[in-house]
Amino acid sequence: MGNPASYEELSANFDWSVAERELGYRQGGPINIGWMCSDRLCHLGLANKLALHWEDYQGNQKRFTFDDLRVLSNTIAHFLGELGIQPGERVCLFMDRVPELYIGFLGVLKTGAVAQPLFSAFGDESLFVRLQNANTSAIITQKKHLPKVRKIREQLPNLRHIIVVDVGESALQPREVSFHMDQAPRIEDFAVYPTTAESPSVLHYTSGTTGQPKGAQHVHYSIVAQYLTAKWVLDLRPDDIYWCNADPGWVTGTSYGIIGPWSNGITQVVFDSGFNAEHWYQFMEKHRVTVWYSAPTAIRLLMKEGTEIVQRHDLSSLRYLASVGEPLNAEAVLWSQKVFGKPFHDTFWQTETGCIVITNFPGMPVKPGSMGKAFPGITATALNPKTYEPVNQPGIAGLIALRPGWPSQIRGYWNNEAGYKAKFKNGWYLCGDRASIDADGYFWFMGRDDDVINTGGHLVGPFEIESALLGCPSVAESAAVAKPDPVNMEVVKAYVTLKKGFTPSDDLELEIMNRIRKRLSPLAMPQEIEFVDSLPKTRSGKIVRRILRCKEFHEPVGDLSTIMDD
Ligand code: WT7
Repeated sequence: MGNPASYEELSANFDWSVAERELGYRQGGPINIGWMCSDRLCHLGLANKLALHWEDYQGNQKRFTFDDLRVLSNTIAHFLGELGIQPGERVCLFMDRVPELYIGFLGVLKTGAVAQPLFSAFGDESLFVRLQNANTSAIITQKKHLPKVRKIREQLPNLRHIIVVDVGESALQPREVSFHMDQAPRIEDFAVYPTTAESPSVLHYTSGTTGQPKGAQHVHYSIVAQYLTAKWVLDLRPDDIYWCNADPGWVTGTSYGIIGPWSNGITQVVFDSGFNAEHWYQFMEKHRVTVWYSAPTAIRLLMKEGTEIVQRHDLSSLRYLASVGEPLNAEAVLWSQKVFGKPFHDTFWQTETGCIVITNFPGMPVKPGSMGKAFPGITATALNPKTYEPVNQPGIAGLIALRPGWPSQIRGYWNNEAGYKAKFKNGWYLCGDRASIDADGYFWFMGRDDDVINTGGHLVGPFEIESALLGCPSVAESAAVAKPDPVNMEVVKAYVTLKKGFTPSDDLELEIMNRIRKRLSPLAMPQEIEFVDSLPKTRSGKIVRRILRCKEFHEPVGDLSTIMDD
């Protein structure tokens, strides 16, 4: 495991079939991510190997072998089957990072149903929009999140089952059912649904400039890419203790917090706890973490805590560090080199790509501040934004674009064909980001090519925030844009015009904030509201957020003539 071959060698002879072979997949045959991440490893002799060592902020711990993953995911799958969940139906996982989330994910997939993970910090409005759009049949959740589900369930007639993993029947209402993973009769044998390559697997919601979030539809064949990129890019080896600190409510937490490591038979540790530098270092020291997949905001928060705290811990087990989600500044790479003795390897990808597509490959010299090169088997370029032809000139910015057809590419947005089609131009898939490529083929991230806000590695769509703002009685119009932030890179700022009869004040700002705080997620919350008399608009009346964003970043707005004519 790991890969001693060089990037150049692997790129020259690359074919995804290497992963198909290693996974034992035969074209046209069954392929089921739930089975591949549990039963398959048991057949390979890893039944008693530790798959998951889980810990929470109170120090509670649980350990699961690959055989436990197999049996417990069978148990959940069986339970869902008894409830009448059919293949293809959407089952939402709405939990903190508890074992039921990870194992439930595999269980849902074993039934042939579609796993729809949602970030448990979402408020009822964010949850509602996504459950309604996906026409979700069942939700698996915890007692602490039940009030949010109860608040919206009457508006979701197709949500037949609300499954609660940590409460007894007596506390429940109609349509709610209790399931205790540890107490349910263990199901040794479950007839895993024979999904095939193109069967839908995971539905992740992601934000765009316009409209509500879109459901990115993955298929079971995605595992081919997730398996190989986890092995090659994260450099996973049999004895590794792997920690991905992303939440499975987002794609990093499923592609590389479940599917990637487990399809490789790797032991992973999970910390169900928020950010705290001391706790994080203690956690890595205690578990002897060897490979750590993290994110720039977390790294910047650690940098703020200094080096002395690092030295108080024995982190000598760390062998490989990688990062994803937002620009990883050169200072962060140099800092990690200094304090951990090894650099963070930046990786670039998206919900829609399903796997890492541009990366600092192991063994390849790291250029701090660069995202690295295309993964072998991925053709990536920067396109001229007018002609959609590759720029082909070192250092000139273009739109990051990929040749379609890699295994974990989404197969569409749920019920939104037009939105998906719009992602393709001239035979390329457009990521919606801008970058330049240097003479050595390294990509340098420049920014997003749309109005989406990336705060602390989480994408937030302006439309969702603006819709919530419009729900406030005083708000006439609003525009949500990014403003710079030293740790989160970007935070949300809202420009608001008020209806007649309302005047700007600190109290009003507070009232608006309070109204939307609970409805969205804490991430989407504007850090600042600025009251204005009017918002910049095109001739046809569309709000031009870009002007406001440029103001926040003290950047020139550039040529707006075509935009203003919209
Ligand atoms: C967007 C995708 C799949 C990772 C988790 C986020 C930004 C991602 C980088 C990076 C600069 C990055 C891009 C991208 N992004 N990685 N290494 N450097 N920006 O998945 O929520 O779909 O977000 O995150 O803008 O398009 P996502």
